[in-house]
Amino acid sequence: MIDSHGRTIDYLRISLTDRCNFRCIYCMPAEGVAAKGHDEILRYDEIVDIVKEASRLGITRLRLTGGEPLVRRGVEGLVEELAAIPGIESIAMTTNGVLLPKMAADLRRAGLSRVNISLDTLDPDQFRRITRCGSIEQTLAGIDAALEYGFSPVKINAVTVRSLGQDFLAFAKLSLDRPLHVRFIEYMPVGESTGSDGTGWGKKDVIPSDELLGLLNEQAKAEGLGELVPAEKHKPQGWGPASYYTFEGAQGTVGFISPLSRHFCAECNRLRLSADGKIRPCLFSDEEYDVRSALADEGPAGVRRVLQQAIGAKPDEHHDKVGTERLMSQIGG
Ligand code: GTP
Ligand code: 5AD
Ligand code: SF4
Repeated sequence: MIDSHGRTIDYLRISLTDRCNFRCIYCMPAEGVAAKGHDEILRYDEIVDIVKEASRLGITRLRLTGGEPLVRRGVEGLVEELAAIPGIESIAMTTNGVLLPKMAADLRRAGLSRVNISLDTLDPDQFRRITRCGSIEQTLAGIDAALEYGFSPVKINAVTVRSLGQDFLAFAKLSLDRPLHVRFIEYMPVGESTGSDGTGWGKKDVIPSDELLGLLNEQAKAEGLGELVPAEKHKPQGWGPASYYTFEGAQGTVGFISPLSRHFCAECNRLRLSADGKIRPCLFSDEEYDVRSALADEGPAGVRRVLQQAIGAKPDEHHDKVGTERLMSQIGG
């Protein structure tokens, strides 16, 4: 599918639930999100029906997100059904990793090919403060399990926030001895305009990727690690806008995702499906299309109509808007 700005749309991000076993301070309030009733959330058979039509329109790659996708019961079965849909070439997941030690083997068997694991700090106390209820050992065990069960590539998503004072070099060094791809993501102050997050962080906390790359190189040189060089050949597979670098001889890479300092809207290739059955043409646009009702009322043809409408409504760019009425946990990043 080509949108009205000439972009090929072949990537669908599906949020399976708003719930999570963590409560990251920038993602949801301390009490968690109001639990939605079962009937408010798309059933798996509805997701499969929607993906069948999306695939007929040119979607080939899926990412399952949340909240935390692994807290939704029976997710392995859903992966298996999605993987069997003609035209779906690859299924990935973004997760906090907690449930991977228990579920990685089944997910792999079901057809999940790769995982991105969110980990914002390597300091155990800070991890507890950010996630409000998690322990870092859980996520580290999830990373081990992802490697052990053969997911490839395995990426680590670290949101960078100036006032947190994270040890970025320690993160980057995770790429040295194991095939891990660490990605630094510029914090998107989505709550600043809406007051929906209670972190007190804002635009001042955005660390532009160029600044971070400079800092990492300075620190790495001081430790005799050399410089990060663009990873031309061994870029990990990905559908997102990250740019990748590597230390000489390292097994993995260091990536940068720069939604603030380098708008990547011109390369946007995606649609989002929310857990309650709405298609969002853009992360930052609160415009939504009710694909669930269309499926119920009109069947497959209704789904195709709504998908085409949503693709037609994709904006050319989000300009400087980074706010949204929904919480990040409700959009899936
Ligand atoms: P790969 O296919 O592995 O490259 O993954 P991805 O980067 O597409 O997905 P992931 O879920 O790991 O997201 C990484 C970061 O990119 C998160 O912070 C997302 O919020 C952000 N992100 C994903 N899609 C978009 C988008 O369309 N716009 C913006 N501004 N940020 C996005
Ligand atoms: N800015 C940048 N990244 C964010 N994520 C969640 N909220 C934000 C934000 N405000 C990340 C999560 C996860 C991914 C899906 O989105 O850490 O890795
Ligand atoms: Fe859960 Fe991820 Fe949100 Fe943290 S950022 S509360 S792990 S969905």
